[in-house]
Amino acid sequence: MTRALWLASPLLALSAHAAELPPAGQWGLPEETVEVIEPHESSPEREVRIRYRGFAAAAVLDRLFGPGWKTPDTALAFFGRDGYRSVIPARRFQENKAWFAVSRDDGAAFAVDNPRQNQQNVPLGPYYLIWNNLAQPGPKSEYDWAYQVVRAELATPADYASIRPPSNSRELTEGFGYTEKYCLTCHKLGGIGGEKFAGDLGALARGLNNDADLKSWILAPSKVRNGTTMPPLDTLAAENERGVIADRIIGYLRFIGR
Ligand code: HEC
Repeated sequence: MTRALWLASPLLALSAHAAELPPAGQWGLPEETVEVIEPHESSPEREVRIRYRGFAAAAVLDRLFGPGWKTPDTALAFFGRDGYRSVIPARRFQENKAWFAVSRDDGAAFAVDNPRQNQQNVPLGPYYLIWNNLAQPGPKSEYDWAYQVVRAELATPADYASIRPPSNSRELTEGFGYTEKYCLTCHKLGGIGGEKFAGDLGALARGLNNDADLKSWILAPSKVRNGTTMPPLDTLAAENERGVIADRIIGYLRFIGR
């Protein structure tokens, strides 16, 4: 399970290392055109390609944080206008090329449909983090494609001490990593996480105190509450893998939210 260990390592900061992103005209960086497979609109059956215009992410991060963002174990947290928070290991920006897009190359509206969250025509600006997924095939999911980005923060593992499980439990450590990746984008746990939906995730999970009900909710919220904007857990993963991920998340939340 190297993937889970990888997920569990990086984390966030609410420290001096926070920066609001300035308007596009102020970077003094060249605007580049890049074609990507748009993960929000693509599915395993249908690939949608879009050309965006934007600034190389590594150069933007250099401007915001200086070279410190490349320190091992550091991660970057990006906050969207809508309260959504994405945490991405700094290492990924050195392995894969990314851009902060500011417009579409064809002049169409800078917006995207997000069917997995039941939302159409979602505005992407001021900044939309896009990845070189055509030239460097890799994960095709939308989790690292942060949109409406207004703020960035540097994060170190120490910032997460309060919600980290004991390191000798592999299942709890995996559950923590998955919760970080799949849930704390929108929910806060012990003061850490996104601000898309109010309330502490440990308490919300206690509201569904039967594990089977919580699992049904995590795997398919729309089946429980029609039209909800909470998305189903990673629909690009295999069904049995989704089940295991949900079990690990539930195990961790029951542990931490007692
Ligand atoms: C894209 C944002 C988003 C993500 C990601 C997300 N949630 Fe939610 N969650 C919501 C919203 C919005 C609601 C309120 C849903 C509603 O009332 O329709 C919610 C509600 C909940 C509730 C309360 C349900 C109830 O009926 O009381 C729980 C528990 C919950 N989420 C757990 C999770 C877990 C666990 C994860 C990770 C697997 C997760 N959420 C990921 C947005 C999100």
